[in-house]
Amino acid sequence: MAKYLKVNSNNISKESLEYAVKVLENGGLVAFPTETVYGLGADAFNPLAIKKIFIVKERPFDNPIIVHVGKIEEVYSLAEYISPEAEKLMKSFWPGPLTLIFPRSSLVDDLITAGSNKVAIRQPNHPIALALLNTFGRPICAPSANLSGRPSPTKAEHVLEDLGDRIDLILDGGEVIWGVESTVLDLTGEIPLILRPGACPKENIEEILGKRVEIWRGKGENVPSPGLKHKHYAPKVPLYIIKINEEWKNKINNWIKEGKKVGVLASEEYRSFYPDGVKLVIVGTRKNLATVASNLFGAMRYLEEEVDIILSEAYPLEGLGLAIMDRLRRASYENSNWL
Ligand code: TXA
Ligand code: MG
Repeated sequence: MAKYLKVNSNNISKESLEYAVKVLENGGLVAFPTETVYGLGADAFNPLAIKKIFIVKERPFDNPIIVHVGKIEEVYSLAEYISPEAEKLMKSFWPGPLTLIFPRSSLVDDLITAGSNKVAIRQPNHPIALALLNTFGRPICAPSANLSGRPSPTKAEHVLEDLGDRIDLILDGGEVIWGVESTVLDLTGEIPLILRPGACPKENIEEILGKRVEIWRGKGENVPSPGLKHKHYAPKVPLYIIKINEEWKNKINNWIKEGKKVGVLASEEYRSFYPDGVKLVIVGTRKNLATVASNLFGAMRYLEEEVDIILSEAYPLEGLGLAIMDRLRRASYENSNWL
């Protein structure tokens, strides 16, 4: 069983950090909070430790991992080339929820990049993550600390649930801030390309770069970010993205008549739309999509234990709404024709 340490973000205990660093130095796995979701960290220069990440998460080996750094300077040894645009973005958004793709240097292990010649790097903005990185003094590679395919962990209890018996240490720093993962941006091509929408909005990146940024929307084999072709974020019961209309109201009523337990991820604004008999979780308000993002994965994990079907409303495809809809589409992709 993983050792479980509660850590206070405002007063980080030195002993906990030193213990975590020992685990990493010995090739172990440490789950730690970042501002987006919990990460499952290993020494980025220890191939055996990196391999363990894939095994415990049951993650396909063709899905590369993000390297986390405590200081921007570390990027210069991990990347072969850093464009002026990348420098601008690092200055503007780091530490923060923006992952940048660079041509990799020979220091980066093949397992991390899944054999590709590019590496994904970010500097997380969480006091515990930064303290861990800077005490360790080397980069830490870390995917989200969930079993592959499951909703990402937004609190330490989620990590315990998925991986408690498979990893060495969980640093419990409470709930994360954003609740959706970082935006993954590839600057190595002609046009900046968002491979995964996330907590850093497209509009903010465009403002800093002064030009349009595209979102990768392809399908099939030619996938620039291999993680995108795997099933993701799925709760244990089917999830449907619904519309607020009479047709859906009837559908919900029919499910209830059939004796199905229906759970809803609802916004404050549409609370009164839903018929009696559904289990309602208000995830947040449409006036501030950060509230919705931060509750999304936790509410999926809660409802999957309580109901047979989960429903979610749709959100506008702008700002954080883009990341929210990306996660919902992936969680529901067999059940919705939104893709
Ligand atoms: O917010 C986050 O990004 C969290 C925290 C822990 O930092 N991490 C995270 O990692 O979400 P993970 O492994 O769950 O998702 C990483 C995504 C995957 O879609 C992966 O395919 C993509 O980033 N990725 C990683 N390295 C890549 C690379 N070299 N080229 C293209 N895509 C890459
Ligand atoms: Mg993940």
